[in-house]
Amino acid sequence: MSHPSTVLRTEYVCSCFFKYQIFIKKYGLHVCYDNDVQFEADFRQSLRFRGCSTDKQYTDVLSQVKGEVERRKNYHSRFLSNYLRNREYRYVYPELVQLQTSHLDCRFLDMMQEKNLQNADTLLHSLVNHGGHVHGQQVYSFPIFTEEFCKHLSEELENFKQSTKERSLPNTMNFEGVSLDEMGLSYTLLTALIKAYLQPITKLLFPDWGGGAIDSFKSFAVHYEADKYPSLSKHFDNAEISLSICLNSNFTGGELQLEQMLGQEEADLDMEPVVVQQKVGQCIMHRSRQFHFAHPITSGVRTNMIVWMRSSSIRNEMCPMCGHSPDIQEVPIAGDGFTLGQGNPACSWL
Ligand SMILES: [Fe+2]
Ligand SMILES: [Zn+2]
Repeated sequence: MSHPSTVLRTEYVCSCFFKYQIFIKKYGLHVCYDNDVQFEADFRQSLRFRGCSTDKQYTDVLSQVKGEVERRKNYHSRFLSNYLRNREYRYVYPELVQLQTSHLDCRFLDMMQEKNLQNADTLLHSLVNHGGHVHGQQVYSFPIFTEEFCKHLSEELENFKQSTKERSLPNTMNFEGVSLDEMGLSYTLLTALIKAYLQPITKLLFPDWGGGAIDSFKSFAVHYEADKYPSLSKHFDNAEISLSICLNSNFTGGELQLEQMLGQEEADLDMEPVVVQQKVGQCIMHRSRQFHFAHPITSGVRTNMIVWMRSSSIRNEMCPMCGHSPDIQEVPIAGDGFTLGQGNPACSWL
């Protein structure tokens, strides 16, 4: 494959990346770690309520949390060396690397005709006329990729996993995932997809979330298996607009459920939760800060490609992970979309 000769720019994260939102799967709890004393004061009791009652169980949690803090410290340098090494990866399907219209569902191409992009109403009208649905406030689904493309991409991801000795986990909630950014695939495929197709949509449907000014993204694949990793706990995403694309059909269950927005009390929610079926080649688009989780799959396996679209115009104001004005730190690659003032790029790609 040929990679663009992009010169990597410095990127930025909020310093909370190194200590906030650490997920303890066994007890279904997100924690923050600064030091042992703080951790005990803040979390020992809530852990106890969740069944972590013995000293042994507690020290196990503590060492898991410290391990995660250590992983995050090394995350960006390891990501960079993996990314550079992955340039040598030989694709089974080299045609996946650059976006081609043949990858896209013809209903999506029809939906995206110029005449349908006049305003939000014309786009939504076009969306529902081309196999799409409006599920709730700013929750949409529509066909995007062909089944063949999804099949090839799933196979490619499996091959990549098998042939790669070391890879970073895209998040702490799914251990079978692949970072499409580290793999290198997203920087060719997704930059084109976002520029030509996704941003025209987000500009009209998510103007309040920087939809017209997407300047970085993060992309990864998640994998679920009925017996081993059936579901995903409730969370929000570290982005402005999220996209989840289902890549296969041999499973049952796995619906995506969307609930309240970050900062909104669950009890204030006067609407029914939104539940969306996952179908091969279809994407679900929603506000990243709307809490969501996937129902357990009851049989088979499910792989989804996730794209987190980010706009520095929104996130420079407040880091969604710590809720404060971001405390900016430089990283060599795989930043979280913050910038240092105007005119500074958020990433090397968009
Ligand atoms: Fe998510
Ligand atoms: Zn933060």
